[in-house]
Amino acid sequence: MKHSCDRESRDKIRLREEILDDLDEEIELELDDARLGSGKNCDPLDFRQVYFRELLRLQGELVKLQDWVKETGHRLVVICEGRDAAGKGGVIKRITQRLNPRICRVAALPAPNDRERTQWYFQRYVSHLPAAGEIVLFDRSWYNRAGVERVMNFCTDAEYEEFFRSVPEFERMLVRSGIQIVKYWFSISDDEQELRFRARMEDPLKQWKLSPMDLESRRRWEAYTLAKEIMLERSNIADAPWWIVPADNKKKARLNCISHLLSQVPYQDVEKPEVTLPERVFGPDYIR
Ligand code: ADP
Ligand code: AMP
Ligand code: MLT
Repeated sequence: MKHSCDRESRDKIRLREEILDDLDEEIELELDDARLGSGKNCDPLDFRQVYFRELLRLQGELVKLQDWVKETGHRLVVICEGRDAAGKGGVIKRITQRLNPRICRVAALPAPNDRERTQWYFQRYVSHLPAAGEIVLFDRSWYNRAGVERVMNFCTDAEYEEFFRSVPEFERMLVRSGIQIVKYWFSISDDEQELRFRARMEDPLKQWKLSPMDLESRRRWEAYTLAKEIMLERSNIADAPWWIVPADNKKKARLNCISHLLSQVPYQDVEKPEVTLPERVFGPDYIR
């Protein structure tokens, strides 16, 4: 009797360790953020705790959303746009962290190659769109043409104009086909971007994030501001409006964005059969 009791409490401890181990991943991500301190946005401990608890609650809701997407065959596209270092990648990581990568995946396309440059502009994005029961998060998207390509002169004026003629039609076609599109612009201030770039320059783990494109985009801050304003105005359609996420505070931006996303999808609890672990079966029939 005593023996089985010990075993029970040992199992409980192991189970708890297993759960904590999973949570540690989140703490690792948080410590990583904290490593350099984030200047004026350095959060007091109590906010970190509230943040952490709320993030876990929202991630729990995302799991329900995922189950509903799978069950109903919903197709969801989430577009994340914003200046360099606005925190798009950080939000995307928290959204996907506890989800099934076969249901929820990220599309972060590199610059188009020589072949892709000769295709219809939207072509290379189309193959990443979701099938039934899938969620695709775009870390940058076809809106590159309205942002980086415009500001850095990677496209002609005619291509830029054609983009704005096409994009509302393109998105309406997707929506009519049953795809839901949610578009976010992560908005950071000049000072905050500078601070994050400095942090990246000093941090060997983050230097890879700082591309020559990022540095050039700081020089062209004003041109980007204009390009962003034009983009938000010309592609803000009823079927797929833009949502602005104030992003100078990373943690608040993550919570706001995830809870807003949850509010946009009409998910419900999905009934699931109770799961029990099967008994191991022994015997000659199973050894063959
Ligand atoms: P990140 O997304 O990590 O910030 P970069 O800052 O290097 O990447 O580039 C910003 C965006 O500009 C990326 O989406 C990239 O695909 C795009 N881009 C870079 N060079 C070109 C190019 N020559 N033509 C078109 N797009 C480009
Ligand atoms: P954005 O990333 O363009 O969405 O801008 C984010 C924030 O930066 C907003 O609060 C803007 O008001 C602010 N902003 C825009 N242009 C400038 C600028 N030239 N200098 C300082 N702040 C700016
Ligand atoms: C972000 O932080 O907004 C993204 O990761 C993009 C970047 O690294 O510049």
